[in-house]
This record gives sequence, structure tokens and C-alpha cells, in this order.
Amino acid sequence: MDIGIDKIGFYTPNVFVDMEKLAEVRGVDPAKYTIGIGQEKMAIAPLHHDSVSMAANAALSILDDEDKAAIDFVLFGTESGVDHSKSGAVWVHQLTGIQKNARCVELKQACYGATAGIKMAMGHIALNPESKVLVLGSDIAKYGLKTGGEPTQGAGAVAIVLSQNPRVMSLDNDSASMTKDISDFWRPLYSDYAFVDGKFSNEAYLSFLKEVWNNYKEQTRRELSDFEAMCFHLPYTKMGKKAILALTEDADESEAKRLMNSYHDSIHYNKQVGNVYTGSLYLSLLSLLEQGPELEEGARIGLFSYGSGAVGEFFSGVVKPDYKQFLNKEAHEAVLDDRRELSIDEYETTLEQALPKDGSDVDIDNEQVNVGKAHLAAIKENIRMYAIK
Ligand code: HMG
Repeated sequence: MDIGIDKIGFYTPNVFVDMEKLAEVRGVDPAKYTIGIGQEKMAIAPLHHDSVSMAANAALSILDDEDKAAIDFVLFGTESGVDHSKSGAVWVHQLTGIQKNARCVELKQACYGATAGIKMAMGHIALNPESKVLVLGSDIAKYGLKTGGEPTQGAGAVAIVLSQNPRVMSLDNDSASMTKDISDFWRPLYSDYAFVDGKFSNEAYLSFLKEVWNNYKEQTRRELSDFEAMCFHLPYTKMGKKAILALTEDADESEAKRLMNSYHDSIHYNKQVGNVYTGSLYLSLLSLLEQGPELEEGARIGLFSYGSGAVGEFFSGVVKPDYKQFLNKEAHEAVLDDRRELSIDEYETTLEQALPKDGSDVDIDNEQVNVGKAHLAAIKENIRMYAIK
């Protein structure tokens, strides 16, 4: 059965910080952030945006009435969940108007959560060919002010509708995965900020990539030359370059050059948003599909998902004919262009704002919310209340 991505959309908050200005204030050469890390702008989430409201906005941007009637599973990948019990998927289900018999659940394994959702969705559709599944990846990446991870923060969400006979990309039913208990990046329950062993996390990412790629190659007999492009989990866009170099270290130099051509298209959105954890790989795929030249029907794209802690997976898909017709390039460019730049003072205040931790009620200022957007409006008696403006 042909199963894959029928629709894909994304959302990011409407404020950002400029990386060159942040570097200047931190006393760092701006080229370290823009070239060394590879980020131009970093999305910041004000209090009215959390993983739920961002995911709802990403989903609202792609769902039509037919999807809402056919979706029978909502799988929400996040590592910035807002409740220990209730899944973010339940709020997204309500905010988007998906039919009431759908199942809703949240999945967690660092940045790997949305990929787990995709794998589960494929199995579900194989057993229930008429169903559609909504997979969400939504996160706020926060390391804190003046930390090593500061230039690799970000916020945003990706929403994907999977179905049989998809219009954007078929997903191959073969992949290679691996799990290893390591402490490269984690976030204890008490902390709003992630902890990270930065250098070790880079090494772990690359060693997972090499191992799952070798296993994938052995299993499928595919080689680098079978791929038109590769997309990677992008905690920051330079990581994609490191990944291509790691995959091509034993290959002909021309292979690295060829893959680097599509790399620039695949980082276009990510370099303006930053790390969105679970959504990062799919934001990169969307960027490649929307910003790159039209790929021929059947062109194969490799996908590497990595979630610290750690789980990694290499899988692949092939593009469908006329897939560009089913994307929303202009709308996504508008999401990025319609943002307001925060001064460094505003950024610092916004990043450190937090909801009360003592259970007191709060009304959230929604002045900055754009019309039509889902947002967190209030917390009353410990219950989160979302609204669409
Ligand atoms: P750092 O110590 O600030 O930076 O840490 P650095 O000294 O390693 O420099 C970074 C790069 O900039 C280097 O290039 C420098 O050479 C270059 P590289 O050797 O890496 O190719 N550089 C310059 N380039 C041009 N002009 C200059 C200049 N100066 C230096 N003047 C680090 C960087 C990414 C480690 C840090 O920001 C960090 O800890 N970030 C968070 C962790 C992270 O993103 N890890 C990625 C892998 S783990 C992962 O992807 C999972 C994750 O998404 C979480 C999850 O799964 O949930 C994080």
C-alpha cells in the first residue's frame, strides 16, 4: 500500500531575535552564530504560545472539512508538554474541529517524538486504509540566557496529514533505528530549561547517523547515489552540513557536492526559526520541498531523525508527481515575513517569562496574537483555556 505525507504545514510565533545582534551583545563574533552555528533568526514563544497552541495553528493551516471527518488518530510528538496527564492532542483535536471518534495521544522521546508518530501512523493506515492520521511535532527549545545552547533555541510546530495514496510524498516501508541510554541532552521535570553536554551531543548525533545509515544501506541495498537529497534533524543548520560530511566521508567528493546543493534549500526555514525539536526534521523537509527546484516524480529523499537520550532512525520517501501543488509556499513565507523583531532586552524578558508555578489563576495578554490564531488565553483553577482570536 502507498502510505505517506498528504499535507504538511508549519507555524512559528510572530516574534524573533536577530542572531547577529544577539552575538554582539554576548561579545561573540556574529559569524560564529550565522556561519559557525548557521542561524540567522531565532523564534521566541511569548506566554500565549506553548506546544499546544503552536501545534493547533500548524494543523489549522492545512486541515479542510474532509480531513477533519477522516482523521481518526491524532499523534502529538513533543518534549514541551503542558500537562503530566492530558495529552496536547486532545486540545488540538478540539481547537481544529476533528471528528469526535478520533483517538488522541502524546508521544515523547526528545526530538524523535514526531517520527515515532509517523511510524505509528503508517501501521495504523496499513490496517485501516480509509483513515487519515494527524501527526504533530511542536516544541519550544529553551536553554536559557548566556548559556552555550542559547544560539540554538527556537519555537514552532509542524503538522502532517498521513494517508494512503498521499499527494506529497510516499514513505518507504523500510528504515533502520537504534536506541542507546546516554546523557547528551535532557530536561528534568522541575526545569523549564534543557541541560546539555553540547560537544557530546554533537558526537552522539553523528555516531547514531553513521550507524543507522550503514544498517539502512545493508538492509535496502540503496547507496548515496539513490538519493536526490537528504534531510536531517536540524538542532541548528550547521548540523546538516556536518551530517552530509559524515555520510560522504568514504564517498567520492562529487557526492558531497551534490548533496550540498539541496542542503541550502533544506535549511531555508530552519535558519530563520531555530531548533523546534520534534518538528525540526520535518521543517527541513518542508523547506526542501517548497524552496528547492521541482524534483522529478519518484526522486528519493533520505530522512534522519535524532532524539537525544537517545533514539535515531534513518528512513526515506519518494516525491509524488506535482507535489508542489499541494504545498503552501506563499503562506509559509508569509508566516516568517510577518514577524516582528524583538530587541535584545525584549527577547531576554520574553524568554524568562513563566506561568505561575503555584496554581494561581492567570489571564494572558493576547494583544500580540494575530487574528485567527489559536493561543493560550487563561489558566483558571489549574485548567488551561485555549481560544482562537
Ligand atoms: P559552542 O562551544 O558555543 O561552539 O557550542 P563551538 O566553539 O563548538 O563553535 C561552533 C562552531 O562555530 C564551530 O564549528 C566553530 O568552528 C565555529 P564546527 O567545528 O562545529 O564546524 N565558529 C566560527 N565560525 C565562523 N566564524 C567564527 C567562528 N567561531 C566559531 N568567528 C553547540 C556549540 C552547538 C555545542 C552549543 O550551542 C550547544 O550546546 N547547543 C545545544 C546542543 C545541540 O544543539 N546539540 C546538537 C546535537 S544533539 C540534538 O540534535 C538533539 C537536540 O535537538 C535535543 C533533542 O533531541 O531533544 C539538541
